[in-house]
Amino acid sequence: MKTISIAIDGPSGAGKSTLARSIAAKLEYLYVDTGAIYRTIGLYALEHGVDPKDEAAVTACLPDIQVGLEYGDDGLQHMLLNGRDVTKEIRLPDVSLYASAVSAHPPVRAFLLEMQRKLARENNVIMDGRDIGTVVLPDADVKVFLTASAPERARRRCLELEQRGTPQPFEKVLAEIEERDYNDSHRATAPLRQAEDAVLLDTTELDFAQSEAAMMKLIGERV
Ligand code: DC
Repeated sequence: MKTISIAIDGPSGAGKSTLARSIAAKLEYLYVDTGAIYRTIGLYALEHGVDPKDEAAVTACLPDIQVGLEYGDDGLQHMLLNGRDVTKEIRLPDVSLYASAVSAHPPVRAFLLEMQRKLARENNVIMDGRDIGTVVLPDADVKVFLTASAPERARRRCLELEQRGTPQPFEKVLAEIEERDYNDSHRATAPLRQAEDAVLLDTTELDFAQSEAAMMKLIGERV
């Protein structure tokens, strides 16, 4: 049976995961957070003292890395690194830049590609990331490019970090977001860009409910 795929791409902090998770629950689709998969590789590099920018060094680690993705009773996506649940650790701010750096290497992307496609073959999915509409699921039924201005994304990320009990200064968060935007959109392989057939949704001026309504409308028109 053909499954349905909804691809959501966009820069970090655009609200992809919050929106996708909520919509997935409403539609009873599987929510796949592909950033978490890259973060798991980033965490491995961090924990093993591997320079995440060194493609040869990161590639040499891949045979030793088993990435597992499980859905708990809570319905949440849990990431396993060689059998260890690292769902919490991968959210640490240091892991963000490591994930961004390791994700630039073609062997890392190739290593993770089939895992993502398999999930979409076997389930109705809402998958978010940077290259879902362009590379991972070019035939997705709905493609959305979700964005917001960098200061607005930094503001939202600061709130989120505060709620998690790990507050960070606004200027630092903004600088990291801008650095990741640059890395993610300037790499040679699968850079962050809007697919030609994706719909642009800019949420700078929208609150959560408005963003969700706009997204549900788009999905309703296409699925
Ligand atoms: O979505 P996120 O911020 O958790 O993603 C972490 C990093 O992983 C991000 O900086 C770029 C990379 N990534 C990617 O290259 N391709 C994806 N499909 C998802 C994330």
